[in-house]
Amino acid sequence: MSIEELADIALAMVAPGKGIIAIDESTATIGKRFESVGIANTEENRRAYREMLLGTPNLGDHISGAILYDETLRQSTRDGVPFTKLMMDAGILPGIKVDTGAKPLAGCPGELVTEGLDGLRERLQEYAKLGAKFAKWRAVITIGEDTPTGTCIESNAHALARYAALCQEAGIVPMVEPEVLMDGDHDIDTCYDVTEAVLRSLFSALYEHNVMLEGTILKASMVLSGKDCEDQADAEEVAAQTVHCLKATVPATLAGIVFLSGGQSDEQATRHLNEMNQLEGNPWPLSFSYGRAMQAAALKIWAKDPVNNVADAQKTVYARAKENGQAALGEWEG
Ligand code: 13P
Repeated sequence: MSIEELADIALAMVAPGKGIIAIDESTATIGKRFESVGIANTEENRRAYREMLLGTPNLGDHISGAILYDETLRQSTRDGVPFTKLMMDAGILPGIKVDTGAKPLAGCPGELVTEGLDGLRERLQEYAKLGAKFAKWRAVITIGEDTPTGTCIESNAHALARYAALCQEAGIVPMVEPEVLMDGDHDIDTCYDVTEAVLRSLFSALYEHNVMLEGTILKASMVLSGKDCEDQADAEEVAAQTVHCLKATVPATLAGIVFLSGGQSDEQATRHLNEMNQLEGNPWPLSFSYGRAMQAAALKIWAKDPVNNVADAQKTVYARAKENGQAALGEWEG
């Protein structure tokens, strides 16, 4: 695939007023979400839940793509329509999470490095055949007393760059996600410094590995006060610091930036995105790739009656997509 074709996919992912829904929870993670609402973690329940999400009427009005888990990419609706076909017919690009998770980084207590490079070339070729247009790899950076270390930042950046280069070789747009966790009592300035160091390291590694930024999407965490910090920065400051940090580190040739929600409330995630899009002069589209902030309300409704509550749950999915789509334009009214 040519760089122009990759760039077209990347631009479609961040088309004006549209964003991504992340439904790529691993079997263990979806199990935790199901447990919180009393649903058994069976393959059929996972399939039915994801059919509810992906089958939301007119979802493509505000959603450009959905990130799936390996199992989901291979599943179909109850009527036998492959999810990838359902999505393409609705104008929603299929994406696939390809990392195999964040594991303890030897020699760096308390830190994680994301694994999954072994055999990735072959897996990407298969995913491309199954219809995946983009992929995701998530690195996890933890802010603590003595962390993150340079070793952790660089190991994760190196893995992200090798993953991204393999994706482009396979004709798949890489979404690179270095998530700086909200956990901790650090202030927003600490989050800024860590995020800046992480993004500098990431874009340097992408450059070293000849990754074409026009065909790449950054999935970023916002610059926020730690969850347990007494002094919580307001939305205006979050937006100003996040955009400043991105402008200082991310080349303007990148196709676009989408944010993760990372444990923010639905409203915060939407408000922060909206504030950022009200600032002028951003060199790239800023949109969303929310997991929890897209699904949480719908999961609660669906779980109460997975047979009869499908339409009600889908209304909530659509409403969250619409609100976040408006925030991607800076037009959310709250
Ligand atoms: P959250 O929006 O729930 O953080 O999930 C996004 C995601 O895909 C994390 O990798």
